[in-house]
Amino acid sequence: MKKTRIVIIGTGAVGSTTAYTLLLRNRVDELVLIDANHNKAVGDALDMNHGMPFLEGAKVWAGTYEDCRKADIIVITAGAAQREGESRTDLLKRNVAIFESIITEVLHHNTHGIILVASNPVDIMSYFTWKKSGWPANRIIGSGTLLDSARFRYLIGEQLKIDSRSVHAHIIGEHGDSELPVWSLANVAGTELQISGEEKEEIFVNTRDAAYQIINAKGATYYAIALALDRICTAILGDEGAVLNVSTLLNQYHGVSDVYLGVPCIVDRQGVREIMPIRLTADEQKLLAQSADKLKGLIASLR
Ligand code: 2OP
Repeated sequence: MKKTRIVIIGTGAVGSTTAYTLLLRNRVDELVLIDANHNKAVGDALDMNHGMPFLEGAKVWAGTYEDCRKADIIVITAGAAQREGESRTDLLKRNVAIFESIITEVLHHNTHGIILVASNPVDIMSYFTWKKSGWPANRIIGSGTLLDSARFRYLIGEQLKIDSRSVHAHIIGEHGDSELPVWSLANVAGTELQISGEEKEEIFVNTRDAAYQIINAKGATYYAIALALDRICTAILGDEGAVLNVSTLLNQYHGVSDVYLGVPCIVDRQGVREIMPIRLTADEQKLLAQSADKLKGLIASLR
């Protein structure tokens, strides 16, 4: 049987936690760690390999771009991370420069895989990767608002005292300050949420600003994003057709085109197979358009 392989580029907090999560959940046969600081990747691989007697037998090693050749999924978490007081978009110029060389290397060795981008600002980094690759957009995916939607569902679940897995609610748009909650579709078992306007506002603000809260407290976020990346990889490798709020190229989506944003997508072996044509209120459409405009402005500033 063909072995499944995931390559993780960037073994900072997010990359290494993602690798560990994939291992614990027994998602792949081969896991390759690549980092500009090769020693860091070597150390992480050693550390994880020492846990093999307690795991299910995956192979993990610190590799080179050559290892991308047989990769099913290439997860990119490399780049500068947000520091206290910075927004995700403050990272743009630094991370575009880093991506230039990473994408060139990946494309040199892989023509068939799926690239999953997690580095921030993730929507723009995904768009940049898509443009630079020339690949069909379904094979370049950003982690998008999957994490934000998880935070949202968790907070709604806490408010209602209902398991967050039973809460259906979506954050769409930028993974960042201009994201928006789709309250009009939020439900538990098809019933409207019994939450006041004030509570809704508080839940949304806490969702949107969660990363700032965590970065202020401990310098970085990595556990929940690792689980979100694991979820996307699993949907791809398992050909699941799972509906996940990942970042994808929009084309006439509520009037928005030529930008990557987080929206509910059907994810399977092809990557993003389809975008869900969700209904939005006029207000939600307006917020989505504003989010798109913000990112397009930033993309234009790169040219
Ligand atoms: C997060 O939302 C910082 O984008 C990262 O946790």
